[in-house]
Amino acid sequence: MRSKIVAGNWKMNKNLQETIHLVEDIASKLGETHAEVMVAPTFVNLSAAVSALESSMIEVVAQNMHFAANGAYTGEISAGMLKAIGIKTVIIGHSERRAYFGETDELLSKKVKAALESDLRVVFCFGEELADRQSGNHFNVVAGQLKNALFTLTAADWKNIVLAYEPVWAIGTGETASPEQAQEMHAFIRHTVVEGFNQEVADAVTILYGGSVKPGNAAEIFAKPDVDGGLIGGASLKTDDFLAIINAI
Ligand code: 13P
Repeated sequence: MRSKIVAGNWKMNKNLQETIHLVEDIASKLGETHAEVMVAPTFVNLSAAVSALESSMIEVVAQNMHFAANGAYTGEISAGMLKAIGIKTVIIGHSERRAYFGETDELLSKKVKAALESDLRVVFCFGEELADRQSGNHFNVVAGQLKNALFTLTAADWKNIVLAYEPVWAIGTGETASPEQAQEMHAFIRHTVVEGFNQEVADAVTILYGGSVKPGNAAEIFAKPDVDGGLIGGASLKTDDFLAIINAI
């Protein structure tokens, strides 16, 4: 069976003290769940979050990384540096990285390969913009993003890939994809993976939905057969909302 995951992407929010407070609060109130729970604080707070969650099942993950092992890349962080502080999973390809930091499919492909070579698990984000959906081009765009960044991997590499479909028009807007829109795209994504690899790889890959997931809409989105959990932005910054979303799975 595919693993269910609920991950909180904290983006550029919460300072050190706030991060420790929030992870401790979430950990102390988290009940039993069959979902894997992840939180992604900003780089400078990763170590503290790892320490604070030492005896918790919550995994601390990174929001980004550079593809090089080390070198003259001012301001960047490598896979090895993440691993050295106990990080096992990294988010790559978030639409904010694509839109504000010019990250292309080609660059993301290098990052994914570098992460996998370092034995990091990758949560790979992708999704269409509003104009793509309005023009009916959303399936092409999504298939292109997948193929360009992930289709030169081997089938074995996919054991360490988690997909996160995040339609850009639903991120931080309060407008979420309907459960039907999410299911339709997730089924298409799984079918695209069958075409690129095989049924076994496609059946095993966890596909998260992200974009304005809230306590009030999580259960019906997560109930869809090809939706295996969520990547949560704003609502993961509030303990009660995040826990309600985790409990919805
Ligand atoms: P929101 O849940 O705030 O829409 O953000 C989604 C997201 O970008 C998670 O990576």
